[in-house]
Amino acid sequence: MIKLNSIPKELEATYNEIIKIPKFSVKFDRDKRINEKLQYISSYMPEISKGGYKILDIGTGPGEFLEVLRNYNCTSIGINPPDNHRWSEIRDPKLANYHEESIIKYNNFSKINIFRQKLDVLSIDMFSCFTNGNKELEKMKFNIINCQDAINLILIKYYDLNYAIDNYKNHHIFGKWLLSEEFYSCLKLMIKFFDKILLPGGAIMLVALISSNDQEYSQKLIHTAKELGYNVEISKDYHIHKFRKTK
Ligand SMILES: C[S@@+](CC[C@H](N)C(=O)[O-])C[C@H]1O[C@@H](n2cnc3c(N)ncnc32)[C@H](O)[C@@H]1O
Repeated sequence: MIKLNSIPKELEATYNEIIKIPKFSVKFDRDKRINEKLQYISSYMPEISKGGYKILDIGTGPGEFLEVLRNYNCTSIGINPPDNHRWSEIRDPKLANYHEESIIKYNNFSKINIFRQKLDVLSIDMFSCFTNGNKELEKMKFNIINCQDAINLILIKYYDLNYAIDNYKNHHIFGKWLLSEEFYSCLKLMIKFFDKILLPGGAIMLVALISSNDQEYSQKLIHTAKELGYNVEISKDYHIHKFRKTK
């Protein structure tokens, strides 16, 4: 297993407060999370185990994926949004409150893990990169762009978290893509941005949160990727996709 560095004294209280909540101690079980990342790599990106890849992990959370990549001798950069980044309004006040509190704890846990494990993570709102570009990222080139369980939140303008509120009893919120012409244009901008920072022959690995209308999302995503010169390497369960740059 990967070595876990100690927590600086000043962060100990915050860490202990989060981890004593049963929901979070299960969610952040380290061995489980690291094993999931190893499994994820062997299922979808086995090439990584050879080492030497440059990988961008968008919406990296606590960054265990970056830790596993480092163990495989790959260089990687993670991206999380800036502290002031807010989600779109959730209509039910009880759910909005619950969600906001969970996000604060999740972000604090993420920051602590990133700090103690000395991970390279930039604070960037990815959505603004799709619409306005990003000079810092555009100076870099990657073999793989990975985005696991984050694209729905990055494209929150086109995603309704209110859709299946009942699920919040299970601490999990499923939503619905808001499919419109504007959303389709945004998918195009997203892949065009990825294309600028992806090396020839590179791959985009995109795993979306399960949604009620995944099938339509998948069709549109595949259509857009093909239109922009990408091959479909994996398309699974309408929410797991891997595209390969052909140029
Ligand atoms: C459900 S977590 C997934 C974390 C990690 N990829 C994993 O699989 O464990 C979603 C991540 O997306 C990030 N995120 C949400 N909106 C974002 C945005 N606009 N730009 C960049 N990251 C964003 C969140 O901060 C969080 O780290």
